[in-house]
Amino acid sequence: MRVDFAGGAAEWRRKHGGGRGQGVARACGLKGGATPRVLDATAGLGRDAFVLAALGCEVDLIERSPLAAALLEDGLARAALDAEVAAIAARMRLYRGGAAELLANWPGARPEVIYLDPMFPDTRRKSALSKKEMQAFQAVVGADLDADALLAPARALALERVAVKRPRHAPLLAGLTPAYSLEGDSVRFDVYLPG
Ligand SMILES: C[S@@+](CC[C@H](N)C(=O)[O-])C[C@H]1O[C@@H](n2cnc3c(N)ncnc32)[C@H](O)[C@@H]1O
Repeated sequence: MRVDFAGGAAEWRRKHGGGRGQGVARACGLKGGATPRVLDATAGLGRDAFVLAALGCEVDLIERSPLAAALLEDGLARAALDAEVAAIAARMRLYRGGAAELLANWPGARPEVIYLDPMFPDTRRKSALSKKEMQAFQAVVGADLDADALLAPARALALERVAVKRPRHAPLLAGLTPAYSLEGDSVRFDVYLPG
């Protein structure tokens, strides 16, 4: 298993995936032509972050799983050597560690948007990963049962919005009603205002 930003699904999505019309882009407020600074606080394998960076956003990524962070770091290093995606990878910076602590003591400029996609223990969720890859990833990373704790520090730090990706029928993060939701076939994006 490895992160490949230059080829495979990432390349297909970059070239044919629907650009700013994609759910993650709309949820992060890119539709009107804006390219906000985004902090992806649950980076995983960086697929969503790469979509946003490919659309022009500066994206900081936080990942606490040493394995996922190592896969990401390796993927970013290879992308930096690829003529087609090097400029995109240069817009992505990885921070290793727990997001709750990092959000509460964020070292850089406040991001306009914070994006959260914690692992949800729902095997029905469709994924770009194969079933085998997904099972391996979930076995290592676990089910992010502490995800509710991310919403308040994210809303305190974000300047414009917090976008939360959930399986379509999953309960609200921290039980909090969002300002609005964007519904996809299998996922939902809940958008919260700062506060
Ligand atoms: C579902 S995956 C994210 C997938 C990602 N959106 C993508 O496109 O590849 C969730 C990831 O968030 C990470 N994560 C969850 N809670 C975290 C936290 N509090 N701090 C840092 N990383 C966290 C997990 O380790 C896991 O890798």
